[in-house]
Amino acid sequence: MAYERKEISIENIRAQEAICARIREMLTARVGQPLAMVDTYGCQQNEADSEKLRGYLAEMGCGFTQDEFSADIIVVNTCAVREHAEMRVLGNVGQLNHSKKAKPGQIIAVCGCMVQQEHMAEKIKNSYPVVDLVFGPHDLWHFPELLLRVMTGKKRVFATERCDGYITEGMPLKRDGKVKAWLSVMYGCNNFCTYCIVPYVRGRERSRRPEDIVAEARQLVAEGYKDITLLGQNVNSYGKDLDCNVDFADLIAMINEIPGEFLIRFMTSHPKDATEKLFKTMATCEKCAHQLHLPVQAGNDRVLEAMNRRYTAEKYLRQVELARSYMPDLVLTTDIIVGFPGETDEEFEDTVKLCEKVRYDAMFTFIYSKRVGTPAAKMPDAATREQKQVRFDKLLETANRISAEKHAEYIGKTMRVLVDGVTGKTEYNLSSRTNGGRLVHLKGDEALIGKFIDVKITSGNTWALYGEIGE
Ligand code: 5AD
Ligand code: SF4
Repeated sequence: MAYERKEISIENIRAQEAICARIREMLTARVGQPLAMVDTYGCQQNEADSEKLRGYLAEMGCGFTQDEFSADIIVVNTCAVREHAEMRVLGNVGQLNHSKKAKPGQIIAVCGCMVQQEHMAEKIKNSYPVVDLVFGPHDLWHFPELLLRVMTGKKRVFATERCDGYITEGMPLKRDGKVKAWLSVMYGCNNFCTYCIVPYVRGRERSRRPEDIVAEARQLVAEGYKDITLLGQNVNSYGKDLDCNVDFADLIAMINEIPGEFLIRFMTSHPKDATEKLFKTMATCEKCAHQLHLPVQAGNDRVLEAMNRRYTAEKYLRQVELARSYMPDLVLTTDIIVGFPGETDEEFEDTVKLCEKVRYDAMFTFIYSKRVGTPAAKMPDAATREQKQVRFDKLLETANRISAEKHAEYIGKTMRVLVDGVTGKTEYNLSSRTNGGRLVHLKGDEALIGKFIDVKITSGNTWALYGEIGE
């Protein structure tokens, strides 16, 4: 696919940072210590984008709050993958009337995938006057400039440039945690699965240069991060748009070379181009977690074709077998859509059968949601919501049973886990993850956060494992 790589120069980012300094002065004069609230919906890519928003906001002198009544600036970073997420966003943005009334100078921005859709930007323009600023994912890099326009003009600002997307390096970042970090390796998607809005709102696939990614990984390790998740809509096409002959497996191997004790995870992989080389690399790189999120979406070949997934159930199963032959301890998860337009009960049963064959450690299941402008939105869809719900419940029951059975197999085993945070509960106060990414609750000292330790698994259910720390 012809795509012209467009980079935002570092000078442009420095200019945005200079605007941050100006905003800082204006805000301090107005309110003293300004506070910002960033509310994030959707996927990890959006979490990573919110860390960039917070980076800019921190340079504007903002502290952070979760209370909309204390915030001087509110940014709602939205998702468009399913209608449910959009409804939640609209409901919550509507509620911001109250905080704005109580705090008249409050600035409210809505950004992200939802508003990159024209009809949604229009909806906000016409029905949500409380919103001062709207910008899409392609406009995030110049958020300071847009915010300044809101602060100095009297008009609302709408910036949702239609484009294939940019590569931006050097933006300030304020990460959420101290143990786990997101590291974007590429942006956008070229696959155009017929149900999915992502390629329309996030633009074409574009990879960051390997040297920039490795430098960021090195920095993360130096700062003490222990769990690095490489992010992309489809990491398996990493590098195809670059001229340096580095594919995703090579990238993992390069990051694996960085000295230090840390784990490399990644998501998401498209089954059509996961390679044997990738599985081999995962198995041989000692820092790479044996964890694979491989969304199958459906187990029936007609449905897979209508979804434009470009693999068959048989081919998918062969890949799973191949991956497991390299990593017998592989933790495998998936996404599944129930009730794709035209899916019959029999076709749905093929999905259940595939799940019984694969036996996923965890499955993320969704009822199909019609997305404006996608090919599937025009396909005949005879099944009722109730029929889809029955299928969904059956699949969820299957998923939960298999997860519980898989977790039961851990009981009595000693596992190496990374302690990554607190749970807020007294009995099991710490949370941790196995190499494969399974959640293990523990009781222990908070000083263990950020450490790899051995634990004995004592029990488990569908959602989590419970363990004891050895002597
Ligand atoms: N309806 C329901 N689920 C969807 N997903 C993507 N688009 C839709 C849609 N229109 C699911 C897919 C994808 C996950 C991130 O969200 O399963 O893998
Ligand atoms: Fe959407 Fe398919 Fe791209 Fe995933 S691979 S983001 S499901 S179009």
